[in-house]
Amino acid sequence: MKAYIVKSGKEIDLFDEYSYKKEILFKKFSSIFELLRGALIYDFKEFYEAKKILMRYDDSDNYINYGYWRDGEKTRSPSASLVQYVASKLELEEDDILLDVGSGLGQPDIDIIKTFPVKKIIGINVCSKQVKYANYRFRLLNLDNTIKHRVLHSDKIADELDAEGISCIVSIEAIEEISSIENFIRNAFNILPHNGRISFCGVVRIKSDNLSFSRMLLGTFFRKITTILYGDHYRMLDIYGELLEKHGFKNIHHERIGRYVYPCLYRYAKKRLSILKQNKNIPFILKVFAFLQLHGINFLFAWKQIEYVVYYAKKKEE
Ligand SMILES: C[S@@+](CC[C@H](N)C(=O)[O-])C[C@H]1O[C@@H](n2cnc3c(N)ncnc32)[C@H](O)[C@@H]1O
Repeated sequence: MKAYIVKSGKEIDLFDEYSYKKEILFKKFSSIFELLRGALIYDFKEFYEAKKILMRYDDSDNYINYGYWRDGEKTRSPSASLVQYVASKLELEEDDILLDVGSGLGQPDIDIIKTFPVKKIIGINVCSKQVKYANYRFRLLNLDNTIKHRVLHSDKIADELDAEGISCIVSIEAIEEISSIENFIRNAFNILPHNGRISFCGVVRIKSDNLSFSRMLLGTFFRKITTILYGDHYRMLDIYGELLEKHGFKNIHHERIGRYVYPCLYRYAKKRLSILKQNKNIPFILKVFAFLQLHGINFLFAWKQIEYVVYYAKKKEE
């Protein structure tokens, strides 16, 4: 497969087993297979391309999130604003070691290290291609001494990262992809020291009506067929608060910011659908996916089925 292009113009070939042409037939079948299997959409260059076309808000395409459109459609960098907002809840200090769970293509951590006083960032991610790409960028930017990503599932935090001295945890738009969210919160609590902080954000549901049309659409269509998930992890908003409390976190807060996320995202991306349609390199199925995802988001938000939430809490031992 072909790799995605680094912004500086250099290409890093993360997928060097096949030439683009030879692989086109394989790709057509395998992408459908993988989409149905619901696992590896992140391994497809075209996935990033489709997202980039619809959601490329600024100069950097190295985010994979919906953004926080604080100033409406005039917001200059919605994805960067989201990172900034969620990370600000941690009140980072110079000697903090930050763990980023679901670390994506690395840009969020680059933003954090440039904006906040933090000593070191460790990012973990299940997608090895993203990890490789992110570490490559850190090297290019001479940030590889302070930011390091590794392939690790959120379930393994406590086993693998205990000795790293992590004092804070951030997770940006990954909670809905983490199937074992209770493990994640339990491990997060165990690994953090007294006064350790956690902050995360993502898509949640605010209606539990299992039989509703949108739930059917959400559960069956979007979440199982077209996304990387194995199940429906758009959980009810309160579940996160309950789990944080159950596992011992204190000072638990949440903010609903859906109105600063979905409407602008939808309007912005809708304008760009024609560009996506014209792109010949993106398989039809991914175009359909991107289109449906956007309409689904708009529909679900308008029908008060989903929200976007930021949660933050502290570990304070009695
Ligand atoms: C929507 S992306 C967000 C990426 C990044 N935080 C950003 O804002 O650009 C979700 C990320 O979580 C990763 N991920 C999903 N499930 C995970 C898990 N259980 N453990 C670690 N990473 C996970 C995905 O590979 C992807 O990088």
